[in-house]
Amino acid sequence: MAVETRDLTPRIGTELLTDAATLASGEHGTWARELLEQRGVLVVRGAFMTSEQQLAFSRSIGKVQPQGDGGVFKITIDPDVNPGAEYVKGAFFWHIDGATDDAPNLAATLNAQNLSKTGGNTHFANTYAAWDDLPDEDKAKYEGLRVVHSFETAQRYVNPEPTARELKFWQTRAPKVHPLVWNHKSGRKSLVLGSTADHIEGLDRAAGRMLLAKLREWATQPQFVYVHKWTEGDLLIWDNSGTMHRVDPYPLEENRLMHRTTIEAEEALA
Ligand SMILES: [Fe+2]
Repeated sequence: MAVETRDLTPRIGTELLTDAATLASGEHGTWARELLEQRGVLVVRGAFMTSEQQLAFSRSIGKVQPQGDGGVFKITIDPDVNPGAEYVKGAFFWHIDGATDDAPNLAATLNAQNLSKTGGNTHFANTYAAWDDLPDEDKAKYEGLRVVHSFETAQRYVNPEPTARELKFWQTRAPKVHPLVWNHKSGRKSLVLGSTADHIEGLDRAAGRMLLAKLREWATQPQFVYVHKWTEGDLLIWDNSGTMHRVDPYPLEENRLMHRTTIEAEEALA
């Protein structure tokens, strides 16, 4: 049986009017994956998926990364639960996950376990739509530009005065150069931006950073953005190759906890 859907904004975000068991059956995986590429974000309100169901749905989309507990990773800023909690705060700024890897992961799911009373809304920007709407003369200028992405650059948003030890650790992850415009295998194009973007190769630093700031402003305009206000048990999946995201800051003591699965990259960023 077909799953009923409801678009949440014209350019990004679709709600699936279904339940955990239906998605976990894997029966709709191919359909959901195609819709995901078109809509950037899919949401099931109050799905209350178990970890097994979240993994089964994720496997119907692609190959699940072996991270966390059998593929389910706990997202929290509580250092007692997650030793890397400090890095989770990098998510408070627009970014693409894995932007300093060879290829950012294809998609990820979030399963709301515990919500904060304040903050914690997640914002997604459709970087396909942002590219599509650029004037043709700008598109011609941007094709061929290459951007240096760095973990250090992203971490400085969270911790602007690192110790030498912290800086040394950040710098163990080598910067990565990616094209500004991702030419996907499908033939579609998207912008590759976010907090890891440091400067544009071969361009004057100030001019390159000005362009990156202008493009972030462009790509995060309201018509390209869906803001998810979480309710208990929500399940959300986003296309990490055609969106960027950020979460509104939330306090540690409100114990916000998400279970996340990550679906591996299938195409190079080229
Ligand atoms: Fe993220």
